Amino acid sequence: MEDPKVGIDMGRAFVTLGIETSCDDTALALLDGSHRILAEYISSQIKDHEPFGGVVPEFASRKHLESFLPLLRALLARAGINNPARQIDLVAVTAGPGLMGSLLVGVMAAKGLSQAWETPLIGVNHLEGHIFANRVNFPELVPPFLCMIVSGGHTEIILVKAWGDYSLLGATRDDAAGEAYDKAAKLMGLGYPGGPMVDKLSQEGDPSAFSLPIPLKNTTQVEFSFSGLKTAVLWEIRKIEEKGQKLPVKDLCSSFQKAVVNALITKLQLAVGQSGINKVAVSGGVAANSGLRKALEELKNLEVFIPPVSHCTDNGVMVAAAGYNCFKRGLRSDLSLSPDPSWEITPR
Ligand code: KG4
Ligand code: ZN
Repeated sequence: MEDPKVGIDMGRAFVTLGIETSCDDTALALLDGSHRILAEYISSQIKDHEPFGGVVPEFASRKHLESFLPLLRALLARAGINNPARQIDLVAVTAGPGLMGSLLVGVMAAKGLSQAWETPLIGVNHLEGHIFANRVNFPELVPPFLCMIVSGGHTEIILVKAWGDYSLLGATRDDAAGEAYDKAAKLMGLGYPGGPMVDKLSQEGDPSAFSLPIPLKNTTQVEFSFSGLKTAVLWEIRKIEEKGQKLPVKDLCSSFQKAVVNALITKLQLAVGQSGINKVAVSGGVAANSGLRKALEELKNLEVFIPPVSHCTDNGVMVAAAGYNCFKRGLRSDLSLSPDPSWEITPR
């Protein structure tokens, strides 16, 4: 395919800028046409939201606004790009799902850059981005495969029939896996985000200390539910507090992690059985979880792909890669692009 801007064949020389601002990370990356990362930067807002115990949407948008231009300047300098209008061929931006205010900052910035540089623009679905985190890291990964996305806002198993052709095999009925980690951590008095902290502490605890329910363990549907598990943690904490005992945080984290990992692996195996596809990619913040990664590695019947931790959580590389692929498929956005906070990747 020919790049409409510079009239060369798309390939290694084609450079995509990826912009991700859907939640609390301002993330930018430059990717060439052979999926080589020219530069990537992430400015995390964890420290800003920590005192509030969760992401404060309005604050998140302001922080994106503050970080965007300094981060872009640093990115261009790192990649040795001094004439972006000539050297960047595509601007890809997450347009949903996510927080409206946060998405708006990225989308408006992308539209401004696209207009100033006279460069094509593409709005990317954040979940398609998570799928493409695997494409960047594993060039050998080609559809069909299953992608389990486990993040702060999503827990879904998607059948990737072809790039751009997705169907939803199952999702959570209530809380997302990462959300459950964050809520359980809050109940235990740990910081935000809870996932990494619970993961760390769980490695020093006894996973059989508490017998927590494994949600929907025996249903024959590919579906998840984590709100009951969080409530079970609450009841255990209350029982211990009523006895005036000290909370065995490490054991509770370990037992909680065991239940979450068991639920995820059980339903992943079910989806594999029902679809007959044993090639599985995993993505999203919870894919950084040590217990989940270990359990996945032990599944000898599956071919498993898990990106490095920095590409499991939100990043600009995944957006650039998804945007580049959308562009190759002939998709385009224009200056009417608006964020869609509840943009679904597949029809339900
Ligand atoms: O994909 P992500 O960066 O943002 C969303 O799109 O949501 O995921 C963030 C979520 C948070 O809920 C965080 O607690 C969780 O991923 N997380 C983890 C770990 N690292 C991040 N959960 C469990 N174990 C981890 N190591
Ligand atoms: Zn995400």
